[in-house]
Amino acid sequence: MAPDRTLRVALLGCGTVGAEMVRLLHEQSADLTARIGARVELAGIAVRRPGRDRGGLPVDPALFTTDALSLVKRDDVDVVVEVVGGIEPARGWLIEALRAGKSVVTANKALLAEDGAALHAAAAEGGADLYYEAAVAGAIPLLRPLRESLHGDTITRVTGIVNGTTNYILSAMDETGAGFAEALERATELGYAEADPTADIEGFDAAAKAAILASLAFHTRVTAADVYREGITDVSAADVASAAEQGCVIKLLCLAERSGDAVSVRVHPAMIPRSHPLAAVGDAFNAVFVEARAAGELMFYGRGAGGAPTASAVLGDLVAVGRHRLSGVRAAGESAYADLRVRPMGQASTRYHIRLDVADRPGVLATVANVFAAHDVSIGTVRQSGRGADAALVIVTHLAPDAALAATVAQLRELDIVRSVASVLRVEGS
Ligand code: NDP
Ligand code: HSE
Repeated sequence: MAPDRTLRVALLGCGTVGAEMVRLLHEQSADLTARIGARVELAGIAVRRPGRDRGGLPVDPALFTTDALSLVKRDDVDVVVEVVGGIEPARGWLIEALRAGKSVVTANKALLAEDGAALHAAAAEGGADLYYEAAVAGAIPLLRPLRESLHGDTITRVTGIVNGTTNYILSAMDETGAGFAEALERATELGYAEADPTADIEGFDAAAKAAILASLAFHTRVTAADVYREGITDVSAADVASAAEQGCVIKLLCLAERSGDAVSVRVHPAMIPRSHPLAAVGDAFNAVFVEARAAGELMFYGRGAGGAPTASAVLGDLVAVGRHRLSGVRAAGESAYADLRVRPMGQASTRYHIRLDVADRPGVLATVANVFAAHDVSIGTVRQSGRGADAALVIVTHLAPDAALAATVAQLRELDIVRSVASVLRVEGS
C-alpha cells in the first residue's frame, strides 16, 4: 500500500445512486484506501441543481458544479464515475474522459445499450478502463463473471428477471389477484415505480440490460435496437389466474440465446413453471440464470436497484479501476470477436399459451387444430371448459418459430367460430 497516493475521482450525478456512493466512500474511507492502495478523493461533483438540499451529505458544498465537461477535462482527475443516466450529454463526457486516458465507471445502461461500441473504442484509444457492473441487475455481481470468470466457457443461454419494478407488479398480481393498474399503483406508492413508469413497464429498461448481457455473453455487439421488446401492460389478472391454473407464474423475462452462428435477444412476459428457479424470485428482486456448456447452470440473485445496492456495484468497479490505474495496467477491453448474427424475433423458437373463447359445437376443435397444422405448429395440450353455447379453450403449443405462432393466432382471430382470442402468452422454461 502507498498511503501517500491519491485517486482523484470526478463524480457525475449525485441523485439516488451518486449520493449513496458519496456516503459509502465517506464511511468506508479507510478500508477503500487499504484495498486500492491510495486514498480516494472527490475532485468535484457535477449535478443539475448545485443548491439542492442533499440531506446532510458528508461532502464539501464547494465541490458541486454544473459544468460536468470541464470537471471531466481537469488534469487532476484520474477516474470518472457517471451516475447521471441518459444518452447525451453523458456520452460526450465519457468519450472525452476515456480518450484522455481517464478510466470510467458508469451505471448508465441506456447509453451502453445504445452506443457501447463508441465508449469501448474511446477506452481503447485512451488506454483506459470502462467498467459498468451496476448497469445490469444493480448490486448483483453478474457482468464481471460474464466478462472474466466465464471467459473459458461457451455460454448458450441467459434468462433473467432484470427489472425490479415489473417483477414487483407481476408478483403482486400473482399473490393478491390484483389487476395491472392496481399493482402499478402500489409499486408507485412504495417508490419502486417512477412517476413516469414507461421505461420499466414497456420493457425498455429490461431491453437495454438484455443488450448488455447478450454482448458480454456472446462476444458480439448487441444494441437495444436489436432486442425484441414487449412490456407487461397487457398482462391481465385473468392471464395470471390462467397461468396459476397451469402451475405457472408470469414474469417479464429477458432471454438471450445462442444457436449456431446467431443469437436471439428478447424481452417479453412469459409463463414459467413454479418449479423454475426464476419463479421464486419475488418482490423487486432480480435474478439471472446462465447456462454454459462446461459450467452448466448458474444462478445470480439479489437486489437489482436502489441507492445503496447500486452504489455497492459502482464502488466495486472503482476499486478495480483504481488498482489498475495505480499499477499502470488496463483490463481487457471489449470482446466482440464472435460477431454473431442477430436473429429476428420471427425466427426465435418459442411456445405459446393461447386462450380462446369459441362456439361449443361439433367440428370446432378440429377447425382450430387445422389452423395450427396449416402453420406447422404442433399442439402440446388442449383444455376445454364449457360455458353454455360457448367454450373456453386453452391451448399450449410445442416449440415453433415465433412467426409461425403469430400467423396461427392471426388466422384464429379470423375464424367465425372464435368469439375472441382472450390471451396469448409465451411459455418458457419447461
Ligand atoms: P437520479 O435521477 O436520482 O440522479 C441523477 C443525477 O444526475 C442527479 O444528481 C442530477 O442532478 C444529475 N444530473 C442530471 N442531469 C444532469 C446534467 N445535465 N448535468 C449534471 N448533472 C446532471 O438517478 P439515479 O441515481 O437513480 O440513476 C443514475 C444512473 O444509475 C442512471 O444511469 C440509472 O439508469 C442507473 N441505475 C440506477 C439505479 C437505481 O436504482 N436508481 C439502479 C441501476 C442503475 P440533481 O441532483 O441536481 O438533480
Ligand atoms: N427501474 C429499474 C428497475 C431500476 O425497476 O429495476 C434498476 O435499473
